[in-house]
Amino acid sequence: MQHKITLIPGDGIGYEVSLAATRCIEACGVGIQWDKALAGQDALEKTGELLPQSALDSIKKNKVALKGPLTTPIATGFRSVNVAIRQALDLFACVRPAKSYPGVKSRFKDIDLVIIRENSEDLYAGIEFQEGKPETQSLIAQIQKSTNKSIRYDSGISIKPISKFASERIVRFAFQYALENKRKKITCVHKANIMKFTDGLFLEVARRVAGEFAGRIIFEEAIVDNMAMQLVQKPHNYDVLVLPNLYGDIISDLCAGLIGGLGVAPGANIGAQMAVFEAVHGSAPKYQGKNKANPCAMILSGVLMLRHIQENKAADNLEEAVRQVIAEGKSVTYDLKPDPLDPSAVGTAQMADAIINKLKKI
Ligand code: NAI
Repeated sequence: MQHKITLIPGDGIGYEVSLAATRCIEACGVGIQWDKALAGQDALEKTGELLPQSALDSIKKNKVALKGPLTTPIATGFRSVNVAIRQALDLFACVRPAKSYPGVKSRFKDIDLVIIRENSEDLYAGIEFQEGKPETQSLIAQIQKSTNKSIRYDSGISIKPISKFASERIVRFAFQYALENKRKKITCVHKANIMKFTDGLFLEVARRVAGEFAGRIIFEEAIVDNMAMQLVQKPHNYDVLVLPNLYGDIISDLCAGLIGGLGVAPGANIGAQMAVFEAVHGSAPKYQGKNKANPCAMILSGVLMLRHIQENKAADNLEEAVRQVIAEGKSVTYDLKPDPLDPSAVGTAQMADAIINKLKKI
């Protein structure tokens, strides 16, 4: 079967890691027609827009995209072009597996966690009031009047909306994910003891949805600060975590740290109709054009994409090829060597070559 998939190569190291990923995916023998679209710095230079409508239209049409990291230049009106894509396409679930691959330097072995982060609201909704502006002053006055609590007049304010609708949508997604992926336990992470009306609502909804899955998936709760400590001390006690947006962002980077860093951390942004697959890392501009970046996070995002389009055999083979190349430790990028200055480290393209060679033997 031929799949048509939007490819946004990205900028910085994006082009190199995307090329490595598409070469590896093609080597799996899956019929894919890439529909190339521009976004980010590249798009800004060529079209004058950071996020051209044509890129969004391509994803809407094809329903699936593979996206390289995108730089968000300062003073372009975007907080983050990546967040803008997720919001424009309502990709409400961010799924970030954190899995140990033998050979990657890390403090722990055999980690197999999945972080499911709500992607559409919370402090990431981008509703902010700048310090000193008249609307901020009037909001402060209004809050004072209706709550009898004072906010200093020289404050900036960010709004944290958490709705029943979005909480139910993400928690239900997490439970479905757990069932489909034969996971046993979901931990709902929150700070409901302090933020009773936002995190409290998230937790209340999570408890209700969990009731529907009782007997099939174990449900537990954890306060986010305690969760951070528990993950660093006993990561093997956890399975799938579901979190509001901001905690999800922070905890998923912590989990990437548990498995050896951003070089091996893939991700997916999933909505009801569409899905965009991308590495957790950014565009690492200092390595742009140097054939130095680790392509694994992007290739493993391709593995997630192959599973999403039901090409499970290809996904398993590609993941196994990545696993073997990392475990051998020979044809790997500098960050996967015990000594990052090891002159035997290979480049991005050469690591992709090694993975493709491995695929031929699987
Ligand atoms: P970054 O992830 O680009 O870099 C953080 C650190 O990790 C740097 O030391 C970098 O060299 C290293 N690193 C990242 N990916 C690597 C790889 N594949 N191989 C080896 N080393 C790697 O984060 P930073 O510096 O905060 O952001 C740079 C730009 O990326 C910003 O414009 C930011 O907005 C954008 N960004 C884009 C994301 C996306 O497209 N989803 C996600 C995060 C940041």
